Amino acid sequence: LAQTPLFQGVPEAALQVAREAFVARSYPAGKLIFEAGDLGAALYVVQSGKVRIYRTYFDGRERMFAYLGPGEVFGEMSLLDDQPRSASAEVVEDAVLLVLYQDGYWSLVRRYPEILHNLAVILAKRLREADLELEVLSFEEARGRVAYALIKLSRQLYNGGNKLRLTHMELAQLSGTSRETVTRVLHALRDEELVKLGSGSVELLDPSGLEEVMLGLR
Ligand code: CMP
Repeated sequence: LAQTPLFQGVPEAALQVAREAFVARSYPAGKLIFEAGDLGAALYVVQSGKVRIYRTYFDGRERMFAYLGPGEVFGEMSLLDDQPRSASAEVVEDAVLLVLYQDGYWSLVRRYPEILHNLAVILAKRLREADLELEVLSFEEARGRVAYALIKLSRQLYNGGNKLRLTHMELAQLSGTSRETVTRVLHALRDEELVKLGSGSVELLDPSGLEEVMLGLR
């Protein structure tokens, strides 16, 4: 818990209280934690493993919002506003999640308002990311979107690592485009020596070049 941004700068005593308020739960890979539209007001901290946040639309298509790893927080939106879950959450790699229910949440933030500030910082970060995403997805061409998805995956799933294992379908879900378009764009990026393609893998050869592509600069 001490590692999560939720408890940055919070007194040690708060961590003691928090350890009692959070409940640890183990989830196997593939387990659905909750679905978009569910009612439920618990916040989760990833202790270990990996979780993905996504939405499924009526026509069966999926949009991937994020991959979350150790220390990261999700489910705070319904906890804060009592509205249904805005997205679905599924375990990608066996995970231990720390769950905080509303009672525990209130007793914590009443005593340690720093936690509330940290939660606001987490939401501000997410809004910044969502703004960037909106910009890239609404204005940039397919190549910008695909470049954006590669950069996002590298940051979220590989801690900045450059060799990504993924299918063209996954990349399509992340970049809000079709699989055929992903294949076409990847071939172009390969020809420009920005990526190297393997079977089931994409290596980012020039991350800053890809950032330029993402912003429509090249
Ligand atoms: P909540 O609406 O309670 O349940 C779904 C959760 O997914 C939501 O809270 C956030 O924690 C998380 N979430 C929603 N949208 C995004 C996004 N664009 N990026 C990362 N996480 C998100």
